[in-house]
Amino acid sequence: MLKKLVASTFIICLCVLIWPVHANEKSISLPPASLAQWYKPANKRQVWLHTMFNLRRELQAIERYAEARDQAHLQKWSDQFSQHYESIQKMVPEWSDELDLEQLGLLKQSVALGAFDEIKRPLGKLKQTCKSCHGEFRVIVAASYRAPDFSGIQVKSAQGEQSYPDTMERLSTLINQIKIASEDGFYTEAKDALVELRANLGSLGETCDSCHQGEPEAKERFLGQRTYGAMEELQAGLESEDQKLTGRSLGGVAVYSCARCHSVHRSLMDLKGFID
Ligand code: HEC
Ligand code: HEC
Ligand code: HEC
Repeated sequence: MLKKLVASTFIICLCVLIWPVHANEKSISLPPASLAQWYKPANKRQVWLHTMFNLRRELQAIERYAEARDQAHLQKWSDQFSQHYESIQKMVPEWSDELDLEQLGLLKQSVALGAFDEIKRPLGKLKQTCKSCHGEFRVIVAASYRAPDFSGIQVKSAQGEQSYPDTMERLSTLINQIKIASEDGFYTEAKDALVELRANLGSLGETCDSCHQGEPEAKERFLGQRTYGAMEELQAGLESEDQKLTGRSLGGVAVYSCARCHSVHRSLMDLKGFID
């Protein structure tokens, strides 16, 4: 009896251990915590990202000088590449396994010997380590450390200062209110909503500066001529009770301001929220 119980418990445990992840789920790997010290705000510079840019440039230079059979320059860039590649394991020890130091050794050896034709193989193998780590971690790291953070930003409104999410809820309500009211012939209500929408987008535009200092063109991109032009047309559509013009210009506002800003600012932030 006891034996049976133990056996069945064992089987149950085993089943739980090897229970397959549901077909609709995919697991993602989170980057090790030690990476944080190489990003803002822990670091003044985005050290990790710049190391990566260096690696790519150094790879390109190595290929160039190997082909040109230029030993001196090849040596210079290979030294720099080795330094940066090896620095990965010092920066993030948990990622040591992602590197192939044996192939790095072969590369260095061939470079030192000026064996130009022997360089391609280790270089190819090293590139695979770049690819493999990127496939697993790149988007997650970008979302974790480089997504813009709107959580502390306040937007002015008729109701006082509001958080970004509350502002967004209101914008969304107003857009739909204009749509519903105009479709059903309540044009005065639609025009009132447009007045508030314009005011709220104006206030939203004042927040761009908190991250895009000295870049007026950033604001222009989503809350500039196109958006304001579409709002003018919308006003005209509502004045003339022209449903077609109203619908088209409202769509313009939603694409030029809402959708375009979301594709730049919102998706990475949502992903960050999802993994935090
Ligand atoms: C151990 C993991 C790892 C290895 C190995 C690695 N990278 Fe990266 N790399 C990353 C991560 C994580 C990012 C994302 C950084 C970010 O977006 O802030 C990245 C981003 C980059 C970027 C910038 C992405 C872009 O296109 O804007 C470049 C360039 C790059 N890596 C080059 C390389 C090269 C070249 C190698 C190999 C010689 C390499 N990396 C090896 C983890 C790795
Ligand atoms: C919390 C910080 C933050 C706020 C607030 C913010 N942005 Fe951005 N924005 C970023 C970051 C980070 C990027 C990524 C590219 C970069 O670093 O310039 C970006 C990229 C952009 C880009 C594309 C790249 C470029 O510079 O042209 C545009 C356009 C833009 N933002 C417009 C706006 C507008 C318009 C507002 C205000 C309605 C705004 N942003 C508010 C952080 C912010
Ligand atoms: C800065 C450029 C920007 C513009 C322009 C913009 N949004 Fe957003 N929107 C965001 C960001 C960033 C978030 C994510 C806010 C958060 O989760 O803190 C967001 C989130 C939202 C959400 C989800 C709110 C929630 O509760 O998560 C809605 C709905 C929304 N926006 C509607 C709109 C509408 C409608 C417009 C156009 C009239 C618009 N937005 C214009 C940046 C923008």
